[in-house]
Amino acid sequence: MRRNGADAPWWQSAVVYQIYPRSFLDSEGNGIGDLAGITSKLDYIAALGVDAIWLSPIYRSPMADFGYDVSDHTDIDPVFGDLAAFDVLLAEAHRRGLRVLLDWVPNHTSREHPWFLESRSARESPKRDWYVWRDGRDGGPPNNWVSAFGGPAWTHDAETGQWYLHLFLPQQPDLNWANPEVVEAMQGVLRFWLDRGVDGFRADVVHLIGKDEALPDQPEEIAHLDIVASHEHPRTHELLRRIRRVLDEYDGDRLIVGEVPILSAARLVPYYGHGDELHMVFNFILMHLPWAAEAFAATVGEAEELLSPSNAWPCWVLSNHDQPRHRTRYGASEARARAAAVVLLTLRGTPVLYAGEELGLLDADVPPARQLDPGGRDGSRAPLPWDSTPAHGWPASPWLPWPPEPGLRNVETQEADPESILFLYRRLLRLRRHSAALQLGSWHRLESPQGTLAYERRFRDDVRRVAANFTDRAVEHVIVDASWSVEASTHARSESGWDGRLAPSEALILATDHLVP
Ligand code: GLC
Repeated sequence: MRRNGADAPWWQSAVVYQIYPRSFLDSEGNGIGDLAGITSKLDYIAALGVDAIWLSPIYRSPMADFGYDVSDHTDIDPVFGDLAAFDVLLAEAHRRGLRVLLDWVPNHTSREHPWFLESRSARESPKRDWYVWRDGRDGGPPNNWVSAFGGPAWTHDAETGQWYLHLFLPQQPDLNWANPEVVEAMQGVLRFWLDRGVDGFRADVVHLIGKDEALPDQPEEIAHLDIVASHEHPRTHELLRRIRRVLDEYDGDRLIVGEVPILSAARLVPYYGHGDELHMVFNFILMHLPWAAEAFAATVGEAEELLSPSNAWPCWVLSNHDQPRHRTRYGASEARARAAAVVLLTLRGTPVLYAGEELGLLDADVPPARQLDPGGRDGSRAPLPWDSTPAHGWPASPWLPWPPEPGLRNVETQEADPESILFLYRRLLRLRRHSAALQLGSWHRLESPQGTLAYERRFRDDVRRVAANFTDRAVEHVIVDASWSVEASTHARSESGWDGRLAPSEALILATDHLVP
């Protein structure tokens, strides 16, 4: 498949589109999205202009954590379809030039996985050591760790009299990556899907796989916090190198992008190794910032400074299935969501979009009686409305309530409106695809008035400038001379020449025909 002019691997110039399969589109009338539903919308995804899709887990699962509790890594859960439906999706995606990434969940399995059933069956079980079993301490759990979903990170097994570790739900026991058989088995999972033709993986909380076998207590002051946002252990890096070698056995630049939810760019850099660990690590910091120019500038600037020297390629996200959507976080303002799209799609690095952000979706308001997720994340997992009919293109009422205003915020309505946020995303993605500066160019901040962020992207002779007004008032913003023209804006503009003014919440991309010194 396509390599770009700079001969960089495909994923550096790519835009990834995350699909939460349960919520994308149902094809069979049970209210839960599935693989055939995704396949039926591949034309929509290709027309949007993204390069790859990442599917949140589609494997067999009791769904305690909606698929992040895997009970069979090499089969599809019947709610989503079967392997044949997956093969069709993969072939149809590839036919449209779209790559496919799967979610790989290495830290834990389902409590119903045959590995765990065998492991818990007896202390002498050959798979006992595949999970983290310990004796209790003073009648309680072996250490003071708490689970990311609340409560102790340990569950007692009455049959065998020991405790097993689960950094997430009790239904998600942690695998023991210190056991070489586990390493081999989980590498086998990667090979199964790589052999089937997938283009790579998003690796779930992958920083957790290396653990200190002494499992020391958390210091008292932070003992109430789970370790997910702070855990670091050198053993993870050796494991990541071994994982990476599996991908490198395959042709076609297969990708592994890791979820390391640590909010510090400096602490993410080691996960790139010396180009021999993860290809990319999500930088989630933007997801936790207010909509404020200085905060964005500081985060992006810091990542530039820390990642560039080691050729570590950034990966940016504003929304995903674990956090409130960014339009919700930005006071429900569509204007801000539009400006955020310009920024996200023009940063240096690979942007990952979360399906539905191109429609400017807000989180659904999920009444207590309909809440399903143990982590309180239902709102951003609401179903995608495809049209303006009461059923919004779904054959049955979906598993979660609709996001607000589905009669307006749906694909059909926005496809008919050239001023819609969907059109803006398409325009931005098209521009990006045709500009080496926007895909691969350097990033350099430009001076700009308070409340705004301006930067230049440059790749050889190709130069773009981006200016974004994070405030709700107009700003005089002279960063260019008359030779620059507006290539894209969040706002309707009658002419392409730029007068140096940004409307409230306006963001734009500028281009010039002149050679820029
Ligand atoms: C990751 C996933 C999240 C899941 C957790 C446990 O953070 O993104 O959805 O609950 O891991 O697998």
